[in-house]
Amino acid sequence: MVLSASQVAAYERDGFLVVPDAIPHDACDALIARATQLVDEFDPSTVSVFSTKEQTRTSDEHFLASGDGITCFFEEEAFAPDGSLRQDKALSINKIGHAMHDLDPVFDAFSRQPAIAEAAAAIGMADPKLLQSMYIFKSPRIGGEVTCHQDSAFLYTDPMTVVGFWVALQDATLENGCLWAQPGGHRTPLRQRFVLDPAGGTRFEQLDDTPWPEPGGPELVPLEAKKGTMVLLHGLLPHWSDVNRSERSRHAYTVHVIDAAADYPAENWLQRHDPALPFRGFDRPVPAPA
Ligand code: FE2
Repeated sequence: MVLSASQVAAYERDGFLVVPDAIPHDACDALIARATQLVDEFDPSTVSVFSTKEQTRTSDEHFLASGDGITCFFEEEAFAPDGSLRQDKALSINKIGHAMHDLDPVFDAFSRQPAIAEAAAAIGMADPKLLQSMYIFKSPRIGGEVTCHQDSAFLYTDPMTVVGFWVALQDATLENGCLWAQPGGHRTPLRQRFVLDPAGGTRFEQLDDTPWPEPGGPELVPLEAKKGTMVLLHGLLPHWSDVNRSERSRHAYTVHVIDAAADYPAENWLQRHDPALPFRGFDRPVPAPA
């Protein structure tokens, strides 16, 4: 699948592009099965709660170390006041992040499949590098809101190049917390950056006071997406998703890609600490000599 000229033009105009039927259903099912297995094997004693609302995670070593690992993060509402899980562990996880695309063969194959690689090339990414992967569960009843943000805040490059390739692994609807985006919002300034704090942990650095579009308000449009739909998201595009109070989960997968020609700052929160695990492109790795 290669994007048509009109699809590329729509992406450049809107800052996002919805591509239905981009990813085969059996590939979605394989990723769901692998994520289910990872959660099953996950030992919850090493807990990290994920939220874009609070900055408590800014000092969470578990979060910082996840840039080159495979880490499960609990939902904020996963726990009852007594510390027990409100629902099954499998229905309590917010996401898995952030290097599955380089560490897990099933995620590697999914992330580097032709539909994604060709879409990156079609929008002009000359030397793409896969930076970050996220498996998002948006579980029934407690799947948390993701407040309005720009991905370049978290995955900044100079110049800004990050693009999100988001895939609906299950149907995403208004009821179960689909994405919302601001058409043309990629032409608004970068509001903030999420950076390592020299004093330890991380912090948001405020760059611009342009207000965010109101959640669910008229500036945002819902991007309902059937299973197998791929959504391209420009790094400056404000986007948001609501809490899932429905009885249906909304599994999705995102891989974020940057252009290797851009500078990747040392103060970005996401760093690869292992020299044996550099950021890679869509090509298969060169096999080690026997
Ligand atoms: Fe995002």
